[in-house]
Amino acid sequence: MSLQEALQLSRASKLVNERLDGGWTVVEQLTRPGELGAEDLTGSWFSFGYVAEKGGKKAFLKVVDVERALADDGKTSLMNRLKNLTDVHTFECDILDVCTKARLDKVVQILGKGEIPAAANAPMGIPIPYILFEHAEGGDARKLVSRSNKIDDAWRLSVLHQVAVGIQQLHSQDIAHQDLKPSNILLFSKDGSNAKIGDLGRASRKGTDTKHDLENWAGSTRYAPPEQVYGLIPEHWVDRREGCDLYHLGSLAIFLFTGVSLTSYYVSNISKDVLPKAWTGNGTCDYKTALPVLTSVFTSFIDNVCCALPEWGKAELSQIIISACNPDFTKRGDLNARKKQGNPIGIETFVSRFDRLAKRALVEVRQ
Ligand SMILES: Nc1ncnc2c1ncn2[C@@H]1O[C@H](COP(=O)(O)OP(=O)(O)O)[C@@H](O)[C@H]1O
Ligand SMILES: [Mg+2]
Repeated sequence: MSLQEALQLSRASKLVNERLDGGWTVVEQLTRPGELGAEDLTGSWFSFGYVAEKGGKKAFLKVVDVERALADDGKTSLMNRLKNLTDVHTFECDILDVCTKARLDKVVQILGKGEIPAAANAPMGIPIPYILFEHAEGGDARKLVSRSNKIDDAWRLSVLHQVAVGIQQLHSQDIAHQDLKPSNILLFSKDGSNAKIGDLGRASRKGTDTKHDLENWAGSTRYAPPEQVYGLIPEHWVDRREGCDLYHLGSLAIFLFTGVSLTSYYVSNISKDVLPKAWTGNGTCDYKTALPVLTSVFTSFIDNVCCALPEWGKAELSQIIISACNPDFTKRGDLNARKKQGNPIGIETFVSRFDRLAKRALVEVRQ
């Protein structure tokens, strides 16, 4: 059975017009991984996204497809699939609760959670667990960049500033996001000016080990920092988790200004015997051996992307990208902060640098 056929079968895929507790009605289904326009979605096979409405107000609804998880996938046992599903859902709810309690205003807010009861005509039917979020009416950054020709440097830098604040807020709660790609950056106004971090499904929490924490990289392979795809696991939380979020912030800057990805550049410019398997190489080279090659290709990448950066901010922006995306994870982050006790990544420096650049861009755009 194809992915598309499988997606059509369960009740969780047909929820339009269903009513939820609290007076919400499901009004629209959103694109799924595997569908055209959703190439960047790595989300679970077992979830669907919808828009729900109440009195003219919208919300984003994420439902868990338990029915389909129950069906045999020929790969894992039923109990394993169910455990996975409950672990993933419970973990996302718990992390979102921490963010709500801490009032993190640059992280998507949850409006409620619950279960849609089994259909009345199906006594053995299965309820559908869900999480209801505030609705990002501007969509996500990936969609906006691909569809809009109105974005300017002031918008790009303001989004980068807001995402940096979101990362700082998460790190202050000992949470690292680990999957900060453009489709997980949500825009909460029609003009896309209010950005927040979404999709905490692959996050890490200090002191809590979830299944994806044991994987070399938790988020998308296309955005993973080099040390992770080469199988090197940094010993310290700051390097392993906060360093990865910072790498994603730098990658987001690259994407917003150039539309290209650093990983694609590595893949096109490094020979197969040095590339890891995850990036279509033959995977025989380790991180330490590959690092000089990665560093030299990274330097040529920076030279290439410089022309896409605004003239007035080129020097500082390329410096920010170099310190956020350095293939050597020990050199990533603000160098002064890294010398302090505990070697903090210095996210506050990136917050203030993007803030200053965003303000300057407003003046430059007007001129
Ligand atoms: N709060 C929201 N408002 C509007 N759209 C959203 C919201 N949250 C997510 N989306 C859309 O749904 C997509 C998938 O949601 P996400 O939470 O990232 O789940 P997944 O685990 O499937 O990646 C996002 O890339 C975005 O386009
Ligand atoms: Mg996502």
